[in-house]
Amino acid sequence: MLRSAATRQDDETFLPKGIHRSRRLPDEQLGALWDSIVLDEKLKIQLLSQAALNFTLRGKVERTVLPLHGVILLVGPPGTGKTSLARGLAHRVAKLFPAGGFKLLEVEPHTLTSSAHGKTQRAVSELFSQSIAETASGGPTIVLLDEVETLAADRTKLSLEANPVDVHRATDAVLVQLDTLAERHPNLLFVATSNFPQAVDSAFTSRCDLVLQIPLPDRDACARILADCLAGLARTYPAVGGLVSSPDFARCAAECVGLDGRAIRKMVANALAASPQVAMDPGTVSSSDLLAAAKAAKANRAIGSAKA
Ligand SMILES: Nc1ncnc2c1ncn2[C@@H]1O[C@H](COP(=O)(O)OP(=O)(O)O)[C@@H](O)[C@H]1O
Ligand SMILES: [Mg+2]
Repeated sequence: MLRSAATRQDDETFLPKGIHRSRRLPDEQLGALWDSIVLDEKLKIQLLSQAALNFTLRGKVERTVLPLHGVILLVGPPGTGKTSLARGLAHRVAKLFPAGGFKLLEVEPHTLTSSAHGKTQRAVSELFSQSIAETASGGPTIVLLDEVETLAADRTKLSLEANPVDVHRATDAVLVQLDTLAERHPNLLFVATSNFPQAVDSAFTSRCDLVLQIPLPDRDACARILADCLAGLARTYPAVGGLVSSPDFARCAAECVGLDGRAIRKMVANALAASPQVAMDPGTVSSSDLLAAAKAAKANRAIGSAKA
């Protein structure tokens, strides 16, 4: 039988426009995502603390005292783990509150934006004022606004291919809705991500309670991502586990500096495709295959950034 998008849901059969997934929290799969992202522990703790504070304090302290909006923004280059962190954060926050009842809604901004005049604005308003508000009335709710620049585009830089008037109105609608929801729903937290912070409207950024920069991994983080990736592969191909202690490992990790976490994991996949023989028997991948793949990924990145 064909599985429709709706059957993927664990708690709803019908999803309103603009929401592509809704799930109950905590969800251990999301916990695994949080753990899989190698990031300075201080940043992870800061993120978790800000999210927890949202649910302890906002219902109790007047907005005239602390004008919190319940919005956290993660910014950084593509592939640095922002979306994974946002999902993982939802799980970790929910685990802190034993009373439970938390839900995660994932917004798909691209399904809201429409070139038809005024449609985006209406879709945005409906999503926030109806679907999100309804869920937030039912219990603590976390909303992932992935790639938020699509929804809250900088109104001063409307060089986008979409109808500029429509983009302008959509951004206005997001801001109005955020203000209304912040007043009415203290049990609501938006976690937004953006690869292009310069494309996000400054009125949106100023409403964020925390803007956290997610950096490219440094040398130590590259080594940890690589080691984690190889350890994961070793669960299927035990011989791969030995590469972590090979003399080439440190050189390989050093070669990864400048790549994002996604690119590092993809580079390992490229190493497994070093030849048809290795591809047919991935456990035979060698440390020189890995080093060659890391060098190639780095060289490609250099070409990419020269073009950009
Ligand atoms: N810092 C990191 N540590 C470990 N893995 C990472 C890291 N950053 C990215 N990845 C991997 O890259 C993939 C894409 O991450 P994602 O969360 O989609 O990044 P972004 O949203 O910033 O583009 C994930 O599979 C993740 O495991
Ligand atoms: Mg992302």
